[in-house]
Amino acid sequence: MVRVFRLREPVPMSATLAIHNEVRRLRAQGRRVFHLGFGEATFPVHPKILEALTVNASERTYLPVSGLPELRARVAAYYGRRFGLEVAPDQVMVGCGSKSLLYAALQAVDGDVVLTDPCWVTYEPQVRLAGLTPRVAATSLDDDHCLTPESLEGCLAEARTRGGDPAALILSSPNNPTGVVYPPELVEGLAEVARREGLLVISDEIYALTAYGETPHRSAACFYPEGTIVTGGLSKHLSLGGWRLGVAVLPPGELGARLARAMTGVAGAVWTTPASPVQHAAAVAYADDPEIDAYIAACAAIHGRMTRQLHGRLAALGVPCAEPSGAFYLYPSFGPWREALRARHGVESCRELCRLMLREEEIATLPGSDFGADPGYLALRLSTSQLHRLGDATVDRVLELARPEVSDDEFRRQVCPDLEGVGERLARFIGSLEKAAVSG
Ligand SMILES: Cc1ncc(COP(=O)(O)O)c(C=O)c1O
Repeated sequence: MVRVFRLREPVPMSATLAIHNEVRRLRAQGRRVFHLGFGEATFPVHPKILEALTVNASERTYLPVSGLPELRARVAAYYGRRFGLEVAPDQVMVGCGSKSLLYAALQAVDGDVVLTDPCWVTYEPQVRLAGLTPRVAATSLDDDHCLTPESLEGCLAEARTRGGDPAALILSSPNNPTGVVYPPELVEGLAEVARREGLLVISDEIYALTAYGETPHRSAACFYPEGTIVTGGLSKHLSLGGWRLGVAVLPPGELGARLARAMTGVAGAVWTTPASPVQHAAAVAYADDPEIDAYIAACAAIHGRMTRQLHGRLAALGVPCAEPSGAFYLYPSFGPWREALRARHGVESCRELCRLMLREEEIATLPGSDFGADPGYLALRLSTSQLHRLGDATVDRVLELARPEVSDDEFRRQVCPDLEGVGERLARFIGSLEKAAVSG
């Protein structure tokens, strides 16, 4: 008898991991691929945090589901000091990366979830895994792909017309995939709509401490503390993604208490709490330590300089792209070359454009459609996080190269010589499309 095992449809593999595997395959064939597809910060681990991990390696018992009490207290104080939020330790929950906490928060939501187009690849599958319906609010390049209060209101109205019941909104600033930091007045405007509409805001601020531009990062919880969950962690500003340490700051009062019960219920049933040594090390990462603060600022400055230089190349080539102020992403649109891309390469979607870019110019990117964009929009997400050569440098070297006195040329030579090659290949790519347009 043939036994038939009944399994559900799998969640599609994360697009970012798929491109990483493809780059590895091409490199194994000896091809020189510029990897702008993967968003992982890879600066060295700060020695104080590394030491704390080593010293605590023998900590082996399970910690409380909400996290190590000392760490929760440190996180509460940190969010006060760095972001101007008033947070009590019992509002803090620690998880296995902020991804786990986003998922736990979604499990608590009873209604539809508003996402933006574009938004981080993971939100939609998480919303669906939680059994909820995503409602997508449009953005436009004219607004730097930020959600506006008008667009949010339009999305809510349309969702209700279709019988939906929006209950939550996921915001992300600094944004993945655009690198744009929402201006404070825009965050305030969105918070007002959320308050008026009774929406829970899940504010993904994992990139908060990578902001490097003119626009200051302001947490949604500054404007709407009673209805906002802020998520963050060590993955981006301290390059500790693999340590899987995330935090959530819940609202105060009854809502926060209900969310805490719901979210610790999910954590207790699925992952318990992050590894004990990592939580002890995180308590050092969240201490009030000027040396660690300076290192975080230096890493953000280097991300910023690489990303701005690449943005400058794109701008010089006439590629429309919102100006980045945080994280390490750019979201250029190749719409101006739509006709040439179709005529010369048969490219009609951003996924085909992404493949073409990898095949012809050996630049790995991600298509905008992986971030929920219309495939015909012809946007790509570029990440500069793998362009630098400082993965094995000392912290002092990182601090030295982050100084503004280092000239642009020197910076490129010492930190990211590949930026030159990426710029040349992009210029060649655009040049070939313009020639095709003229001759065609
Ligand atoms: C927007 C955004 N949120 C959350 C995460 C996940 O972070 P963590 O490592 O804390 O799970 C990422 C990681 O790529 C991200 O880009």
